[in-house]
Parts: sequence; structure tokens; C-alpha cells
Amino acid sequence: MEPKPKPHFLLTISFLLLTTAFSSLSSPPLNSSSPSLSPAKNSSLTPPSSSSPSSPSPSPSSSTLDPKQLRALQSLNIPTTRDPCVQPSLHNATLCDNSKPFKHLLSLRLINCSDDISLSITALKSLYTLQDLEFINCPVTPVHFPPELVASLRSFTCIKSLKKLTGVWLKNLANLTELTVSGVTVNASGPSIIVGSMEKLRSVTISHANLTGFLPKRWHLNLTRIDLSANQLRGKIPSSLTLLGDLEMLNLSSNSISGEIPTSFGDLLSLQNVSLASNSLSGSIPDSMSAMPGLVHLDLSSNLLNGTIPKFLSELKDLKYLNLANNNFKGVLPFNMSFIKRLEVFKVGGNSDLCYNHSVLSSKLKLGIAPCDKHGLPLSPPPARSSDSSDDSSSSDDSDYNDGSDESNHSSNHHHGPNKVVLGVAIGLSSIVFLIIFLILLSKWCG
Ligand SMILES: *[C@@H]1O[C@H](CO)[C@@H](O)[C@H](O)[C@H]1NC(C)=O
Ligand SMILES: *[C@@H]1O[C@H](CO)[C@@H](O)[C@H](O)[C@H]1NC(C)=O
Ligand SMILES: *[C@@H]1O[C@H](CO)[C@@H](O)[C@H](O)[C@H]1NC(C)=O
Ligand SMILES: *[C@@H]1O[C@H](CO)[C@@H](O)[C@H](O)[C@H]1NC(C)=O
Ligand SMILES: *[C@@H]1O[C@H](CO)[C@@H](O)[C@H](O)[C@H]1NC(C)=O
Ligand SMILES: *[C@@H]1O[C@H](CO)[C@@H](O)[C@H](O)[C@H]1NC(C)=O
Ligand SMILES: *[C@@H]1O[C@H](CO)[C@@H](O)[C@H](O)[C@H]1NC(C)=O
Ligand SMILES: *[C@@H]1O[C@H](CO)[C@@H](O)[C@H](O)[C@H]1NC(C)=O
Ligand SMILES: *[C@@H]1O[C@H](CO)[C@@H](O)[C@H](O)[C@H]1NC(C)=O
Ligand SMILES: *[C@@H]1O[C@H](CO)[C@@H](O)[C@H](O)[C@H]1NC(C)=O
Ligand SMILES: *[C@@H]1O[C@H](CO)[C@@H](O)[C@H](O)[C@H]1NC(C)=O
Ligand SMILES: *[C@@H]1O[C@H](CO)[C@@H](O)[C@H](O)[C@H]1NC(C)=O
Repeated sequence: MEPKPKPHFLLTISFLLLTTAFSSLSSPPLNSSSPSLSPAKNSSLTPPSSSSPSSPSPSPSSSTLDPKQLRALQSLNIPTTRDPCVQPSLHNATLCDNSKPFKHLLSLRLINCSDDISLSITALKSLYTLQDLEFINCPVTPVHFPPELVASLRSFTCIKSLKKLTGVWLKNLANLTELTVSGVTVNASGPSIIVGSMEKLRSVTISHANLTGFLPKRWHLNLTRIDLSANQLRGKIPSSLTLLGDLEMLNLSSNSISGEIPTSFGDLLSLQNVSLASNSLSGSIPDSMSAMPGLVHLDLSSNLLNGTIPKFLSELKDLKYLNLANNNFKGVLPFNMSFIKRLEVFKVGGNSDLCYNHSVLSSKLKLGIAPCDKHGLPLSPPPARSSDSSDDSSSSDDSDYNDGSDESNHSSNHHHGPNKVVLGVAIGLSSIVFLIIFLILLSKWCG
């Protein structure tokens, strides 16, 4: 029984199709992987000697960097086989000025250090030109920075690095305009001791640092960003905070702050993003907030706020994110459909005395609150699963409406595209496989 030539020919064709399909499946991820992600390296501080394909390295030896600074980099385990002043540097770890005869470092970033490196005073002294110093996942032991370095530093970042910091150590960096500390314990009596002496500070982040104490009463009026989230701060929000006319971002979430939101809160005319979430704030939303023209992101969730929700929130033109969930708000929700649909995230669940007017808003919105009766009181206990409905509802049929179940919801939306592509390819591949099986069967029957 010799099979006929035609089915074989078809089999070859379909095999070719299959191979092409597979190669086209694998190529997009290769292309899309950005250069910063592709080297799946452990540490930016490991010399890239073994990985030859990444660096053609035309002139390895003749560095243009000041020899003292070059030695300092070597003592910090930063590879210098390639001139650290050539841009872009490896992981953007270094940036130089253009001085002659030797260049000097302006910026240094230490990422994923091995824990056997140590900061030597000599090395730090020679880095007196640095304006920007960053430690990211770099658990070295902190030392006192020499005055030359302290004088030149404008920006200091410490994320999950330096094991442990004290207020006294940070306060020493008096010339900073930008301070970022996150994911490391900061032992201090409060934020004041740290930022109090930094006269030029414009942006401060001290978050996830178990920082204790009270919010400062005196602030530098030029501050544009304050993030003191996820600490152990307590006491009230001082009304002096509302004097910060340039403040664009305020994040005090996840602390133990109590008392009322200052009535003058609306004086923060530049404020765009604010989170006071997960504290113990009480009282109502101040009327002055109706005058905040640029407000984009307002998160007051998980507090003890009461009173009615003011209608003026729906007149804030730029508002995209509104989270009032898990408070004690009461009365009728004063928003209509077109306002809620305009928002990217809207949450009001977990306010047991709050209700919505069912002739204005559809129950499909799954707001996590009950409809109102004719007296403006919640009609019945909120629908089953209402308290966690903000997460449940994202998987509901109502797909064009995002009632905002956090970032997880957003990221799943972002991955929608690739998933569809993969699904399409999978369907295509299975059709081809089916075709082949069909052809094999056909060839058997015909033969
Ligand atoms: C990867 O694809 C993008 C378009 O999706 C294109 O602009 C880019 O040049 C491609 N990169 C490589 C390395 O092929
Ligand atoms: C380095 O910085 C440049 C410019 O800021 C940026 O475009 C590039 O993505 C960065 N590369 C890495 C590896 O971070
Ligand atoms: C990461 O570094 C450690 C020690 O530096 C090494 O043992 C390990 O193999 C490295 N892992 C990867 C994925 O390179
Ligand atoms: C640092 O380590 C993290 C996690 O191990 C990794 O995702 C990141 O790409 C590393 N960065 C560099 C520049 O090595
Ligand atoms: C801050 O910088 C100025 C020069 O820009 C310098 O005179 C001053 O000594 C520095 N302050 C500290 C505390 O180093
Ligand atoms: C803050 O304190 C808690 C409990 O004491 C601890 O689990 C956590 O690791 C600390 N966080 C930091 C960044 O030190
Ligand atoms: C924080 O610093 C104070 C005073 O410097 C000290 O008494 C205390 O033990 C420190 N706390 C921690 C957790 O290290
Ligand atoms: C605040 O900013 C203004 C202009 O932006 C500047 O003139 C002033 O010197 C700054 N004040 C401080 C204390 O940095
Ligand atoms: C505030 O900080 C928390 C925790 O650090 C973060 O999850 C949240 O996105 C921040 N919110 C704003 C408005 O920046
Ligand atoms: C809201 O809470 C504040 C402080 O807890 C209380 O004084 C006030 O009476 C409450 N207002 C309403 C309308 O419940
Ligand atoms: C402000 O909030 C908006 C809306 O949630 C967000 O897209 C944006 O990234 C935030 N900006 C900053 C600086 O946090
Ligand atoms: C919905 O509310 C907004 C703001 O209060 C208002 O401008 C708009 O006219 C209302 N739309 C409808 C259809 O009632």
C-alpha cells in the first residue's frame, strides 16, 4: 500500500504553516522586551565581563572620569571596564559632567548591591561632585557622609537600603531639594526633625518606614510633594499644612492620623493628588474643597468621616479617581450616571447609612450601597456581598463600567491585549493541528 503523493504534499505545507505560526508566536516577546529588562542579571554591580554580546565596547581602557572617582566606583563594585561617563551607562548607574581634563560624577545609583561592599569615607570624599545619590535594594551599612558630599547633594534616594536610618543621619543632608526614603526603618521623633533643617526641600517621601511622631506644624512653603504614607504618624493634620500653595501631591495614607480635615483644606490650590486613606479622620468633607480646581485623585477611604457627600465633588472638572469607601457617610449619593462614568475609579461601598436614588443610578453600577427609600434612607440592607462588592463587581457582566477595584483591576485591563493575541494564536494553532489530523485521516482513507 503506497500512499498517494498529494496528501504528503499537503502535510508538508501544513507543517510549514505550523512552524511559521510558532516562530511568529515567539518573536513578539523578544522584540517587546526592553533593553533594561532583558539582561536578567542579579546585580548591576557584577562586572559584565562574561556577557560579551551586550557590549561591543570600543574603548575600554581610556576613561574620561577623574581617576579618584574611578577608584571610588571600583571600591563600590561598579564595573568600570567601560567608561562610566559614556551614556547611556550600564543601568544608568552613572552620569557625568563635562569638566576638563577629567569629567566628574553628577549622579550615582547603586542597585541590588551585594552585601559585601562597604561605603568607605575615602571613596565618599572623592565623590564630592555628586548631586544625586540613589541606593536601591542596597543593604550596606550607613556611614556619616563627609561634608563635601553633603554640601553638593541635591537629591537622595534610599529604597530598601542602608539597613536602618535615623532622623539625625537624614537631617544632616541639609542641601537636599528631593528626599526619598522607602522600605527602611527610620528611627526619629517625627518628620520635623528630618525635614525641619532642609530649607530647599521641594519633594519629600518617607514611606513604609515605621516613622513615628506627629506631622510638622511648620513646613517649607516651596514643597510640591509630600508622601509620608504607611508609617505610624498620629495626631491631627495641622492647618498650617494648607498654606502650601505649591503642593501638588499629598499622601498621608495608612497612618493613625485623627481629628478633622482642616476647614481650610481647599486653600491647597495646586493640589492634584491626595490620599488621606486608612487613618482615623472624623467629621465631614470641608466645603472649601469645592474650590480646588486641579483635583484629579481624591482618596479618603477607610476613615471615620461622616455627614453627607457634597455634590460639588461632581463639579471638579479634572477628577478621575474618587474613593470614599468605608466611612460613615449618610444620605443620598448626589451623583448622576454621567459623572460616575467619567471617572476611572469610583468607590463608595462600606458606608452603611448611604444610599443611591434608583431613578438616577442603575443597580448595575454595583456601588456596594443600598437604594434609597422615599425618605432618603437605605431601603434594605445592602445587596449580598455588598461590603466587598468593589472587588466582586469588576468581574460582572457590566464590562464597560469600571467601578474601580484597585490596581489589580487596572493591570488586568492592561493585559487584555496580549491575552487576546495569545488566544488568537492558540485558536489558529489548534485549527492547523486539526487540519493535519484531518489530512492524515484523509490520506489513510484515500490510500
Ligand atoms: C519592535 O516592534 C516595534 C513596533 O511594535 C518597533 O517599533 C521596533 O523597532 C521593534 N524592535 C525591534 C528590535 O525589532
Ligand atoms: C536610562 O535613562 C534614559 C534617559 O533617562 C532612559 O531612556 C533609559 O530607558 C534608561 N535606561 C535604563 C536601563 O534604565
Ligand atoms: C545571583 O547572585 C548570587 C550571588 O551573588 C548567585 O549565587 C546567583 O546564582 C545569582 N543568580 C542569578 C540568577 O544570576
Ligand atoms: C534588581 O533586582 C530585581 C529583583 O531581584 C530585578 O527585578 C531588577 O531587574 C534588578 N535590577 C538591576 C538593575 O539589576
Ligand atoms: C549647601 O550648598 C551651599 C552651596 O550651594 C554651601 O555653601 C553650603 O555649605 C551647603 N550646606 C551644607 C550644609 O553643606
Ligand atoms: C515596621 O514594623 C513592623 C512591625 O513592627 C515590621 O514588621 C516591619 O518590617 C517594619 N517595617 C520597616 C520598613 O521597618
Ligand atoms: C531609636 O532611637 C532612640 C534614641 O536614639 C533609641 O533610644 C531607641 O532604642 C531607638 N529605637 C530603635 C527601635 O532602634
Ligand atoms: C521658593 O520658590 C521661589 C520661586 O519658585 C524662590 O524664589 C524662592 O527662593 C524659594 N524659596 C526657598 C526657601 O527655596
Ligand atoms: C499613597 O501611598 C500608598 C502607600 O504608599 C499608595 O499605595 C498610594 O497609591 C498612594 N496614593 C497616592 C494618591 O499617591
Ligand atoms: C460627625 O462626627 C463628628 C466627630 O466624630 C461629630 O461631632 C458629629 O456630630 C458627627 N456628625 C454627624 C452629622 O453625624
Ligand atoms: C494622580 O492620580 C491620577 C489618577 O489616579 C494618576 O493617573 C496619576 O498617575 C497620579 N499622579 C501622581 C503624580 O501620582
Ligand atoms: C450630572 O451631574 C453633573 C454635575 O453635577 C451636571 O453638570 C450634569 O448636567 C448632570 N447630567 C445629567 C444628565 O443630569
